[in-house]
Amino acid sequence: MTHTRLGVTPLHRLQKDFLSVLDLQPDDLLRVLEVAACLKDDRRRGRQMLTAHVLGGRHVALLFDKPSLRTHSTFQIAIHELGGQVLDLQPGVALSSREPLVDVARNLAQWVDAVVIRTFSQQVLEAFAAAAPQLHIINALTDQEHPCQALADFLTLRERWGRLAGRTLAFIGDGNNVAASLAHAGAMLGVHVHVASPAGYELPAAVVEQALAVARPDTRVRLFRDPVEAVAGADAVYTDVWTSMGQEDEAEGRRAAFAPYQVNQALMDAAAPDAAFLHCLPAHRGEEVSAEVLDSPASLVFEQADNRLHTQKALLLMLLAPQAAADYCSPD
Ligand code: CP
Ligand code: NVA
Repeated sequence: MTHTRLGVTPLHRLQKDFLSVLDLQPDDLLRVLEVAACLKDDRRRGRQMLTAHVLGGRHVALLFDKPSLRTHSTFQIAIHELGGQVLDLQPGVALSSREPLVDVARNLAQWVDAVVIRTFSQQVLEAFAAAAPQLHIINALTDQEHPCQALADFLTLRERWGRLAGRTLAFIGDGNNVAASLAHAGAMLGVHVHVASPAGYELPAAVVEQALAVARPDTRVRLFRDPVEAVAGADAVYTDVWTSMGQEDEAEGRRAAFAPYQVNQALMDAAAPDAAFLHCLPAHRGEEVSAEVLDSPASLVFEQADNRLHTQKALLLMLLAPQAAADYCSPD
């Protein structure tokens, strides 16, 4: 591993896109968290922040093909606070049959530096990124992955625990996009990941393999059927909606299948003492989580929402202004 004059690990790999946590090397992931923590701390300085004008004259397009409160808001605020301009696109125009996706990407490449995309298929994202080699593409959620969420979640857990490696995170529910990115990032950071799901809703075997391939030595990724077994010894318990965006037709069947997987106080009591509760939000009190747990002191859900801003700001800085990112937030 090489080090700069300042002792900061340079970011050689995070160069073009962030489509997946798997696009990061472990050093990059740690550096995103480190830069995000500095940005969070500096934010009270407002326009006096060292990074307030770093994206001056740069444009970032947002292309959201599914609803969003947190991701859409925090990317806009992050771009503004770095001095950049937001182009908020209409998905019905840009991701429709009006013109080929490749042409949309090539058009945008004439005008903007980066495109933040929330859509259904990860393949669409990959096709978009391949069509415009000069554009930075960021995954704001697909059916398969939600990597920006995992960045915020591990910043939140690092704030809570100090050191991440060796801890255990139990995800209870659907082996979905959020679970996949948590497994990727957790394994890379040395956090043991347990995922408990009903039959037919498990984390895909391919995701487990990917996570194990990037895992720190001795880091476990384990699937469970029984949520009580999954949370035993867990330092954090995470859940997400039972029905993700785009699966609304399956809601009734999912409610029945996931009923035994609600995160309630009894399940939290089966985890480690002082275990934290996490949820990416939006949450449905009385379904995947009881109101008692969501609104309890153990719940870090609004810290997670806060950290969406800081981690995405770090990501934009590292992708669009790598030198500024390397000069910023050194340990010296
Ligand atoms: N957690 C999350 O991504 O929230 P939104 O869907 O509101 O962006
Ligand atoms: N799994 C959820 C996450 C929402 C942030 C969904 O895809 O709808």
